[in-house]
Amino acid sequence: MPTSDHLSSPIFSSLTPVIEESTDPTYQLRERLQQWCGVHIGPDKSYLLTNRLRSLMQEIGVTTYDALLKLAEGNRGLKVRERIIDALTTHETLFFRDKSPFDAIRNHLIPEIRRAAGKCQPTLRIWSAACSTGQEPYSIAMCLVESIPDLSDWTVSIVATDVSAQTVAIAKEGRYQEHEISRGTTAQQRQRFFERDEEGWSARNNIRRMVQFMVGDLTSTTQPAGTFDMIFCRNVLIYFQREVAQRVLGRVVDRLSSSGRLFLGSSEIPLGAENLLVTERLGTATCFRRR
Ligand SMILES: C[S@@+](CC[C@H](N)C(=O)[O-])C[C@H]1O[C@@H](n2cnc3c(N)ncnc32)[C@H](O)[C@@H]1O
Repeated sequence: MPTSDHLSSPIFSSLTPVIEESTDPTYQLRERLQQWCGVHIGPDKSYLLTNRLRSLMQEIGVTTYDALLKLAEGNRGLKVRERIIDALTTHETLFFRDKSPFDAIRNHLIPEIRRAAGKCQPTLRIWSAACSTGQEPYSIAMCLVESIPDLSDWTVSIVATDVSAQTVAIAKEGRYQEHEISRGTTAQQRQRFFERDEEGWSARNNIRRMVQFMVGDLTSTTQPAGTFDMIFCRNVLIYFQREVAQRVLGRVVDRLSSSGRLFLGSSEIPLGAENLLVTERLGTATCFRRR
Protein backbone atom coordinates (compact mmCIF):
# COMPACT_ATOMS: atom_id res chain seq x y z
CA MET A 1 0.00 0.00 0.00
CA PRO A 2 1.25 3.52 -0.62
CA THR A 3 2.59 5.39 2.37
CA SER A 4 1.51 8.93 3.23
CA ASP A 5 4.62 10.03 1.30
CA HIS A 6 3.28 8.30 -1.78
CA LEU A 7 -0.11 9.85 -1.30
CA SER A 8 1.36 13.34 -1.26
CA SER A 9 3.15 12.69 -4.56
CA PRO A 10 1.58 14.26 -7.68
CA ILE A 11 1.14 10.72 -9.06
CA PHE A 12 -1.65 10.18 -6.58
CA SER A 13 -3.00 13.68 -6.28
CA SER A 14 -6.46 14.13 -7.63
CA LEU A 15 -7.47 16.91 -5.22
CA THR A 16 -5.75 19.86 -6.87
CA PRO A 17 -7.48 23.18 -6.21
CA VAL A 18 -9.93 24.12 -8.94
CA ILE A 19 -9.17 27.47 -10.52
CA GLU A 20 -11.39 28.56 -13.37
CA GLU A 21 -9.67 28.40 -16.72
CA SER A 22 -10.82 31.93 -17.49
CA THR A 23 -9.13 33.42 -14.39
CA ASP A 24 -5.83 31.60 -14.76
CA PRO A 25 -3.54 32.95 -17.49
CA THR A 26 -1.25 29.92 -17.19
CA TYR A 27 -3.98 27.34 -17.78
CA GLN A 28 -3.54 26.82 -21.56
CA LEU A 29 0.22 26.61 -21.31
CA ARG A 30 0.11 24.13 -18.43
CA GLU A 31 -2.38 22.00 -20.38
CA ARG A 32 -0.22 22.10 -23.50
CA LEU A 33 2.92 21.14 -21.55
CA GLN A 34 1.10 18.07 -20.28
CA GLN A 35 0.08 17.13 -23.84
CA TRP A 36 3.59 17.66 -25.14
CA CYS A 37 5.54 15.65 -22.57
CA GLY A 38 3.27 14.52 -19.73
CA VAL A 39 4.63 16.98 -17.17
CA HIS A 40 1.81 18.22 -14.95
CA ILE A 41 2.12 21.58 -13.25
CA GLY A 42 -0.92 22.19 -11.04
CA PRO A 43 -2.59 25.61 -10.72
CA ASP A 44 -1.08 25.93 -7.24
CA LYS A 45 2.39 25.86 -8.87
CA SER A 46 1.70 28.34 -11.67
CA TYR A 47 4.36 30.61 -10.10
CA LEU A 48 6.87 28.11 -11.58
CA LEU A 49 5.85 29.26 -15.06
CA THR A 50 6.43 32.89 -14.14
CA ASN A 51 9.87 32.20 -12.71
CA ARG A 52 11.07 29.73 -15.30
CA LEU A 53 9.76 31.40 -18.44
CA ARG A 54 10.76 34.98 -17.61
CA SER A 55 14.08 35.03 -19.44
CA LEU A 56 12.79 33.03 -22.44
CA MET A 57 9.86 35.45 -22.84
CA GLN A 58 12.21 38.43 -22.62
CA GLU A 59 14.54 36.87 -25.17
CA ILE A 60 11.72 36.14 -27.62
CA GLY A 61 10.01 39.46 -26.94
CA VAL A 62 6.57 38.33 -25.77
CA THR A 63 4.76 39.53 -22.67
CA THR A 64 1.85 37.07 -22.33
CA TYR A 65 1.59 33.28 -22.10
CA ASP A 66 -0.99 33.33 -24.91
CA ALA A 67 1.51 35.03 -27.22
CA LEU A 68 4.20 32.52 -26.24
CA LEU A 69 1.85 29.62 -26.90
CA LYS A 70 0.89 31.04 -30.30
CA LEU A 71 4.56 31.11 -31.26
CA ALA A 72 5.04 27.55 -30.01
CA GLU A 73 2.13 26.34 -32.10
CA GLY A 74 2.86 28.31 -35.25
CA ASN A 75 4.60 26.95 -38.35
CA ARG A 76 8.06 27.47 -36.91
CA GLY A 77 7.03 26.68 -33.35
CA LEU A 78 9.02 23.53 -32.70
CA LYS A 79 12.09 25.39 -31.42
CA VAL A 80 9.97 27.55 -29.08
CA ARG A 81 8.14 24.47 -27.85
CA GLU A 82 11.50 22.79 -27.19
CA ARG A 83 12.68 25.84 -25.21
CA ILE A 84 9.46 25.84 -23.12
CA ILE A 85 9.98 22.16 -22.30
CA ASP A 86 13.63 22.87 -21.37
CA ALA A 87 12.50 25.67 -19.07
CA LEU A 88 9.56 23.94 -17.39
CA THR A 89 11.07 20.53 -16.68
CA THR A 90 12.96 20.05 -13.41
CA HIS A 91 16.53 18.82 -13.92
CA GLU A 92 17.70 18.40 -10.33
CA THR A 93 20.20 15.53 -10.21
CA LEU A 94 23.56 14.51 -8.79
CA PHE A 95 26.24 11.87 -9.20
CA PHE A 96 25.51 8.53 -7.50
CA ARG A 97 22.09 9.78 -6.39
CA ASP A 98 20.67 7.60 -3.60
CA LYS A 99 23.80 5.41 -3.71
CA SER A 100 21.99 2.10 -3.07
CA PRO A 101 21.24 1.24 -6.76
CA PHE A 102 24.95 1.61 -7.52
CA ASP A 103 25.85 -0.68 -4.60
CA ALA A 104 23.30 -3.15 -6.00
CA ILE A 105 25.02 -3.06 -9.40
CA ARG A 106 28.47 -3.64 -7.85
CA ASN A 107 27.56 -6.24 -5.25
CA HIS A 108 24.67 -8.16 -6.81
CA LEU A 109 23.98 -7.50 -10.49
CA ILE A 110 27.50 -7.63 -11.95
CA PRO A 111 28.30 -10.95 -10.18
CA GLU A 112 24.91 -12.31 -11.31
CA ILE A 113 25.47 -11.33 -14.97
CA ARG A 114 28.99 -12.76 -14.86
CA ARG A 115 27.66 -16.07 -13.46
CA ALA A 116 24.85 -16.24 -16.03
CA ALA A 117 27.29 -15.64 -18.92
CA GLY A 118 29.45 -18.61 -17.84
CA LYS A 119 32.26 -18.93 -20.36
CA CYS A 120 30.60 -16.58 -22.88
CA GLN A 121 31.35 -12.89 -23.21
CA PRO A 122 28.94 -11.05 -20.87
CA THR A 123 26.67 -8.42 -22.39
CA LEU A 124 24.99 -5.64 -20.52
CA ARG A 125 22.46 -3.09 -21.80
CA ILE A 126 21.39 -0.25 -19.52
CA TRP A 127 18.89 2.56 -20.13
CA SER A 128 18.99 5.76 -18.12
CA ALA A 129 15.54 7.17 -18.94
CA ALA A 130 15.20 10.85 -17.95
CA CYS A 131 18.96 11.24 -17.58
CA SER A 132 18.91 15.03 -17.06
CA THR A 133 22.40 16.56 -17.40
CA GLY A 134 24.14 13.18 -17.43
CA GLN A 135 25.14 12.59 -13.82
CA GLU A 136 23.10 9.36 -13.66
CA PRO A 137 24.46 7.61 -16.79
CA TYR A 138 28.03 8.75 -16.05
CA SER A 139 27.65 7.38 -12.50
CA ILE A 140 26.52 4.06 -13.98
CA ALA A 141 29.56 4.10 -16.29
CA MET A 142 31.94 4.86 -13.38
CA CYS A 143 30.33 2.12 -11.34
CA LEU A 144 30.89 -0.42 -14.14
CA VAL A 145 34.52 0.61 -14.72
CA GLU A 146 35.18 0.36 -10.97
CA SER A 147 33.52 -3.00 -10.50
CA ILE A 148 34.40 -4.91 -13.69
CA PRO A 149 38.18 -5.39 -13.97
CA ASP A 150 37.83 -7.20 -17.32
CA LEU A 151 35.36 -4.67 -18.76
CA SER A 152 37.08 -4.72 -22.16
CA ASP A 153 35.88 -8.33 -22.54
CA TRP A 154 32.26 -7.29 -21.93
CA THR A 155 29.85 -5.82 -24.45
CA VAL A 156 28.33 -2.89 -22.61
CA SER A 157 26.01 -0.15 -23.75
CA ILE A 158 24.40 2.62 -21.77
CA VAL A 159 21.62 4.52 -23.53
CA ALA A 160 20.60 7.81 -21.90
CA THR A 161 17.50 9.78 -22.90
CA ASP A 162 15.71 12.90 -21.75
CA VAL A 163 12.86 14.96 -23.20
CA SER A 164 14.77 18.22 -22.77
CA ALA A 165 17.05 18.80 -25.78
CA GLN A 166 19.12 21.42 -23.96
CA THR A 167 19.68 19.05 -21.06
CA VAL A 168 20.76 16.24 -23.37
CA ALA A 169 23.22 18.62 -25.08
CA ILE A 170 24.74 19.47 -21.67
CA ALA A 171 24.92 15.77 -20.80
CA LYS A 172 26.64 14.95 -24.09
CA GLU A 173 29.20 17.66 -23.50
CA GLY A 174 29.93 16.13 -20.09
CA ARG A 175 31.23 19.35 -18.54
CA TYR A 176 30.52 20.14 -14.91
CA GLN A 177 31.17 23.04 -12.57
CA GLU A 178 32.94 22.50 -9.26
CA HIS A 179 29.67 22.53 -7.27
CA GLU A 180 28.18 19.89 -9.59
CA ILE A 181 31.15 17.55 -9.69
CA SER A 182 31.57 17.65 -5.92
CA ARG A 183 27.95 16.48 -5.41
CA GLY A 184 28.41 12.72 -5.21
CA THR A 185 31.89 11.97 -6.58
CA THR A 186 34.97 11.16 -4.51
CA ALA A 187 38.36 12.81 -5.13
CA GLN A 188 39.55 9.50 -6.54
CA GLN A 189 36.64 9.32 -9.01
CA ARG A 190 37.21 12.92 -10.09
CA GLN A 191 40.82 12.13 -10.84
CA ARG A 192 40.09 8.90 -12.68
CA PHE A 193 37.05 9.92 -14.70
CA PHE A 194 37.27 13.70 -15.20
CA GLU A 195 39.77 16.21 -16.48
CA ARG A 196 40.06 19.60 -14.83
CA ASP A 197 40.62 22.92 -16.58
CA GLU A 198 40.12 26.60 -15.62
CA GLU A 199 36.38 26.41 -16.25
CA GLY A 200 35.44 23.13 -14.65
CA TRP A 201 35.60 19.39 -15.20
CA SER A 202 35.07 17.29 -18.36
CA ALA A 203 34.19 13.61 -18.48
CA ARG A 204 37.11 11.57 -19.78
CA ASN A 205 36.72 9.15 -22.65
CA ASN A 206 36.85 6.19 -20.26
CA ILE A 207 33.21 6.95 -19.30
CA ARG A 208 32.09 9.25 -22.11
CA ARG A 209 32.46 6.62 -24.84
CA MET A 210 30.28 4.19 -22.87
CA VAL A 211 27.16 6.39 -23.00
CA GLN A 212 24.99 7.16 -25.99
CA PHE A 213 22.73 10.20 -25.42
CA MET A 214 19.46 10.87 -27.25
CA VAL A 215 16.47 13.15 -26.90
CA GLY A 216 13.55 10.92 -25.95
CA ASP A 217 10.07 11.46 -24.56
CA LEU A 218 8.86 8.78 -22.17
CA THR A 219 5.24 9.55 -23.03
CA SER A 220 5.79 8.82 -26.71
CA THR A 221 5.41 5.36 -28.23
CA THR A 222 8.95 5.54 -29.66
CA GLN A 223 11.61 4.41 -27.20
CA PRO A 224 15.18 3.09 -27.56
CA ALA A 225 15.15 -0.23 -29.39
CA GLY A 226 15.62 -3.62 -27.77
CA THR A 227 15.43 -4.74 -24.16
CA PHE A 228 17.59 -3.75 -21.21
CA ASP A 229 19.20 -5.59 -18.30
CA MET A 230 18.79 -2.51 -16.12
CA ILE A 231 16.58 0.52 -16.48
CA PHE A 232 16.96 3.62 -14.35
CA CYS A 233 13.73 5.63 -14.49
CA ARG A 234 14.16 7.72 -11.39
CA ASN A 235 12.57 10.94 -10.22
CA VAL A 236 10.52 11.54 -13.34
CA LEU A 237 7.21 9.69 -12.79
CA ILE A 238 6.51 12.14 -9.93
CA TYR A 239 5.97 14.88 -12.53
CA PHE A 240 3.18 12.98 -14.28
CA GLN A 241 -0.43 12.45 -13.24
CA ARG A 242 -1.43 8.96 -12.30
CA GLU A 243 -2.68 7.65 -15.66
CA VAL A 244 0.33 9.06 -17.51
CA ALA A 245 2.72 7.60 -14.92
CA GLN A 246 1.04 4.19 -15.23
CA ARG A 247 1.18 4.28 -19.03
CA VAL A 248 4.85 5.32 -19.03
CA LEU A 249 5.70 2.68 -16.46
CA GLY A 250 3.98 0.01 -18.59
CA ARG A 251 6.06 0.97 -21.63
CA VAL A 252 9.27 1.06 -19.61
CA VAL A 253 8.55 -2.38 -18.14
CA ASP A 254 8.05 -3.70 -21.69
CA ARG A 255 11.69 -2.82 -22.30
CA LEU A 256 13.02 -4.90 -19.38
CA SER A 257 14.67 -8.18 -20.33
CA SER A 258 13.26 -11.27 -18.59
CA SER A 259 15.87 -11.02 -15.81
CA GLY A 260 16.16 -7.21 -16.03
CA ARG A 261 15.87 -4.85 -13.06
CA LEU A 262 14.12 -1.51 -12.90
CA PHE A 263 15.17 1.23 -10.49
CA LEU A 264 12.63 3.93 -9.70
CA GLY A 265 12.92 6.97 -7.45
CA SER A 266 12.26 6.25 -3.78
CA SER A 267 8.66 7.57 -3.72
CA GLU A 268 7.63 6.59 -7.21
CA ILE A 269 5.68 3.37 -7.24
CA PRO A 270 2.37 4.17 -8.93
CA LEU A 271 -0.80 2.43 -7.81
CA GLY A 272 -1.47 -0.62 -9.94
CA ALA A 273 2.25 -1.33 -10.49
CA GLU A 274 1.94 -4.60 -8.56
CA ASN A 275 0.22 -6.07 -11.65
CA LEU A 276 3.35 -5.43 -13.67
CA LEU A 277 6.22 -5.70 -11.23
CA VAL A 278 7.67 -7.80 -8.45
CA THR A 279 9.65 -5.94 -5.80
CA GLU A 280 13.13 -7.17 -4.97
CA ARG A 281 15.62 -6.07 -2.31
CA LEU A 282 19.27 -6.10 -3.32
CA GLY A 283 21.25 -5.04 -0.24
CA THR A 284 19.73 -1.68 0.71
CA ALA A 285 18.31 -1.05 -2.78
CA THR A 286 14.75 -1.69 -3.87
CA CYS A 287 14.33 -2.65 -7.50
CA PHE A 288 11.69 -4.33 -9.64
CA ARG A 289 11.45 -7.26 -12.04
CA ARG A 290 8.76 -8.08 -14.56
CA ARG A 291 5.94 -10.10 -13.08
C1 LIG B 1 14.55 15.45 -11.60
S1 LIG B 1 15.32 14.96 -13.11
C2 LIG B 1 15.84 13.32 -12.68
C3 LIG B 1 17.21 12.98 -13.25
C4 LIG B 1 17.78 11.63 -12.85
N1 LIG B 1 16.96 10.55 -13.35
C5 LIG B 1 17.92 11.53 -11.36
O1 LIG B 1 17.18 10.79 -10.71
O2 LIG B 1 18.79 12.21 -10.82
C6 LIG B 1 13.88 14.68 -14.12
C7 LIG B 1 14.18 14.63 -15.60
O3 LIG B 1 13.05 14.09 -16.27
C8 LIG B 1 12.98 14.69 -17.54
N2 LIG B 1 11.65 14.47 -18.11
C9 LIG B 1 10.47 15.07 -17.79
N3 LIG B 1 9.49 14.61 -18.57
C10 LIG B 1 10.03 13.68 -19.39
C11 LIG B 1 9.53 12.86 -20.43
N4 LIG B 1 8.24 12.90 -20.79
N5 LIG B 1 10.37 12.02 -21.06
C12 LIG B 1 11.69 11.97 -20.73
N6 LIG B 1 12.23 12.73 -19.77
C13 LIG B 1 11.42 13.58 -19.10
C14 LIG B 1 13.31 16.14 -17.26
O4 LIG B 1 13.71 16.83 -18.42
C15 LIG B 1 14.41 16.01 -16.21
O5 LIG B 1 15.69 16.07 -16.78
